[in-house]
Amino acid sequence: IIILRPIMKKYKRHLVTAALPYANGPVHIGHLAGNFLPADIYVRYLRANNEDVKFICGTDEHGVPITIRAMKEGVTPQEIVDKYFTIINDSLHQMGISFDIFSRTSNQIHHDTSQAFFLNLYEKGLFEERESAQFFDEEKQIFLADRYITGTCPKCGNENAYGDQCEKCGSSLSPEELINPKSALSQSVPIKKNTIHWYLPLQHYEEWLKQWIIEDHKEWKNNVYGQCKSWLDSGLHARAMTRDSHWGVAVPLPNAEGKVLYVWFDAPIGYISATKELTPQWSDYWCKEDTKLVHFLGKDNIVFHCIIFPAMLKAHGGFVLPNNVPANEFLNIEGEKVSTSRNWAVWVDEYLKDFPEMQDSMRYTLCANMPETKDNDFTWKDFQDRNNNELVAILGNFVNRAFVLMHKLCNGKVPAFHLDQKDEKDDALFEKIVQTKKDIETSIENYRFREGLFSVIDLARKGNIYLQDKEPWKKGDDQIAIDNCIHMCLQLTANLAIFMNPFLPFTAQKLCKMMKVVDRMLAWEHGGSLKLLQKGYPLNPPALLFRKIEDEEIALQKEKLSKGSQQATSSQSQVTPTASLKETISFEDFDKIDIRVATITAAEKVAKADKLLKLTLDLGFETRTVVSGIALHYSPEEIVGKQVSVIANLAPRKMKGIESNGMILMAENATGKLIFINADGGAMNGSQVK
Ligand code: MF3
Ligand code: ZN
Repeated sequence: IIILRPIMKKYKRHLVTAALPYANGPVHIGHLAGNFLPADIYVRYLRANNEDVKFICGTDEHGVPITIRAMKEGVTPQEIVDKYFTIINDSLHQMGISFDIFSRTSNQIHHDTSQAFFLNLYEKGLFEERESAQFFDEEKQIFLADRYITGTCPKCGNENAYGDQCEKCGSSLSPEELINPKSALSQSVPIKKNTIHWYLPLQHYEEWLKQWIIEDHKEWKNNVYGQCKSWLDSGLHARAMTRDSHWGVAVPLPNAEGKVLYVWFDAPIGYISATKELTPQWSDYWCKEDTKLVHFLGKDNIVFHCIIFPAMLKAHGGFVLPNNVPANEFLNIEGEKVSTSRNWAVWVDEYLKDFPEMQDSMRYTLCANMPETKDNDFTWKDFQDRNNNELVAILGNFVNRAFVLMHKLCNGKVPAFHLDQKDEKDDALFEKIVQTKKDIETSIENYRFREGLFSVIDLARKGNIYLQDKEPWKKGDDQIAIDNCIHMCLQLTANLAIFMNPFLPFTAQKLCKMMKVVDRMLAWEHGGSLKLLQKGYPLNPPALLFRKIEDEEIALQKEKLSKGSQQATSSQSQVTPTASLKETISFEDFDKIDIRVATITAAEKVAKADKLLKLTLDLGFETRTVVSGIALHYSPEEIVGKQVSVIANLAPRKMKGIESNGMILMAENATGKLIFINADGGAMNGSQVK
């Protein structure tokens, strides 16, 4: 009998999205726990059920944070997004997040799709065109996004508050409230200038949204439903869907020079563009009512996915709406809120370097602490405990014992099961397997991933108890008792592989190798069977599924976390406003300084001086040694080959016993990092800087 569960009945296909991460930094474990991991578990489960599913994601490459990052690093926004697209894509792929496509909103297809979307609404007259006065930087001839305006916070007096928020006291601000507002681009005082934008009157969609969410989607998670309700209760207003900027999707209208689509207008359309890029059948997924669309995201994205994007889709018409938006709350680290600016985060790319091949240990810990109903906490100690006490001691241990015993007591082959000798413990274990399957189905289909994971580990726990009760190693020549016990344990292992597969896919694969079965075995429909492994089938020796994590490794990670954040905070406070000018000098004074172009040909650390590097410079007409205080900013390897400007006639000076003959010119960037004042490539070594 095939029992159709609700998930199978109504929908022909599934479209699952994970919120597009901004390409302005690497992803951290908070992104995994809140967004990517639940989406991946859900999708892997659907695939195991042979459902038609597409899993869509990519990087969000527009918006103010990216232009700010570019400005801080002194590079173009394109360079920023290219760099972080690669890092993010690699990290997520390596963690086993199994997207069908990981695209980018800078792709042409996305620009075309989002412009066409905008025009559709525009031509139907659904936007309101409004003129308003916005802050404008006259020196740079550019309108300033709120983030680009800095000034003194009216609430706490912090002199470096942003036009949208004060990071010191946390108040959200508008640029008008700042005392002494300044442009972050030029430090000049901005003026107000009129500008035209296109607004989507969200209030026109309010009644419809109320019906759709408050009445028709009472099943949504409390945190999501509650946030939507409070937005709708406090009334919706028109919201600008365009911005003044040169970075983003151009507004496809005449006379809209210097205007782009609001990043929250274009980014969610990215789900559609990426699907187009993936398959010519994209419209089946987006336009047919028998598609189940589910958006995964973190709580800061709820309003955009539940109110604004649905209003856009409704305004456009012809698209399916999300069936559910199972947003998560936030994951804190060691009891503190993640802060990328304070570097209080565990970065996925760094985790993968420090714990290679241990993706499932992190997936397990993050799933076990998934912030499904409230904010939750990640601690390194808990990571170690869960790994050592649950993955190693329960799951790994059970599988290992079953395999070792099979090799020792059953010739390395799957023993027969003698039905006539079956007892109530065997029955109970079988029932537990069947029940576990149903429990996991209910959990995953209702987006309760922690509960699902706990069912898996609990089944392994039952396996250990079963083995302990039966003690096959004490059964002497009662081969039937031994065979039955080991047979059950091996069938349980196969079932565990199926059940863990959505959560711990790397381990499920290892188990398949040990059992010498193909991936097909992991199909969900095989779960609950006791005929997964054939009698007489030889199996491989046990492989190590999980390794123990030592105290030292954890201590190192904790230290890394606090050091990283100290560095970030101190380099922030080092960013002092430009120093005031020194007194005027004559041309003759200036002419005494001989600045030359040189190439760094060698670099090494100076012993017992953490700030100093000993550099060998090629000045064209001679080679010389300069000691420079840049070791905290650059490693020797990264600067060899760089062309620099050097004061070549400075009197020699001994530093740590090395004679330094000159000084390299450097300046601070916005993050407090020293950067070289170079001749931009083409200059000849030895030529004079004038
Ligand atoms: N980039 C956004 C964030 O990280 C999420 C964008 S989701 C999308 O918060 F729907 F707009 F794509
Ligand atoms: Zn403040």
